[in-house]
Amino acid sequence: MNKDAEPPAIELRSVTKTFVLESGERVVAVRDTSLTVARGEFVCVVGPSGHGKSTLLNLMAGFIKPTSGEILVNGKPVEGPGPDRGVVFQQDTLFLWRRVADNISFGLEARRVPKEERKATVERYLKTVGLEDFGGAWPRQLSGGMRRRVAIAAVFANEPDVFLMDEPFVGLDYLRRAQLHKVLLDLWEEGGHRAVFMITHDVDEALVLGDRILVVKEGRIVEDVEVALPRPRSTYMITGEEASIIRRDVVLHFGELDIA
Ligand SMILES: Nc1ncnc2c1ncn2[C@@H]1O[C@H](COP(=O)(O)OP(=O)(O)OP(=O)(O)O)[C@@H](O)[C@H]1O
Ligand SMILES: [Mg+2]
Repeated sequence: MNKDAEPPAIELRSVTKTFVLESGERVVAVRDTSLTVARGEFVCVVGPSGHGKSTLLNLMAGFIKPTSGEILVNGKPVEGPGPDRGVVFQQDTLFLWRRVADNISFGLEARRVPKEERKATVERYLKTVGLEDFGGAWPRQLSGGMRRRVAIAAVFANEPDVFLMDEPFVGLDYLRRAQLHKVLLDLWEEGGHRAVFMITHDVDEALVLGDRILVVKEGRIVEDVEVALPRPRSTYMITGEEASIIRRDVVLHFGELDIA
């Protein structure tokens, strides 16, 4: 098939999500939002707390349904969660009754990957996130950052076409974060077709990773900034005039807090 004729990885058409609270109060978390993430594109999302970023991602994940509008992944309407999307949620979502290795292996089992291959993949990704000695541990025996790494390994192990990641690297030390940036970028570049939609509060992280940075405020995408920095990039390279200009452009759209 002609690549240009292929549908985008993610498409939102006039999506609104309204939550109705027990009190009857209505909260419009996402307002009439349209968005296209192309195949092979890495999109980072920033914005103030409580303004609809996670809601957007949860809609794409099929975890919640829109109040109105349409969501398509690879041209197909999202009906619910699916193996085409690898999701790291903002909250910890490990299976507490499965050991670390079995958490990582879960998606592979669901896809009926043969046992030997599963074992090798789980070992490879345990090593990638620095938890090779913890395959037999229970999630409750791990620190918050270690649990985060298991969740990341579980998504990476499935090598999905679409990555949906909600602040995946929160709580990790600087070096581990830089290393996982590299792993993610390698996975993303491999094959050249994988799309990433990643929420972060760290604008510099968005500069290292993203092709585009979206600023979400009050349930809308208020800014869409291209990150025209050359690749390959690394955590140490996000300095200089160009990066400063993009950083300032993004941060200015957060508004509210006066940090000038
Ligand atoms: N399940 C829910 N029920 C009711 N209200 C909700 C629900 N989920 C989110 N909201 C509300 O929707 C709005 C957007 O929340 P959301 O979690 O998308 O914000 P966010 O931008 O991800 O914030 P943060 O940066 O703090 O994670 C908030 O006002 C929140 O209270
Ligand atoms: Mg959130």
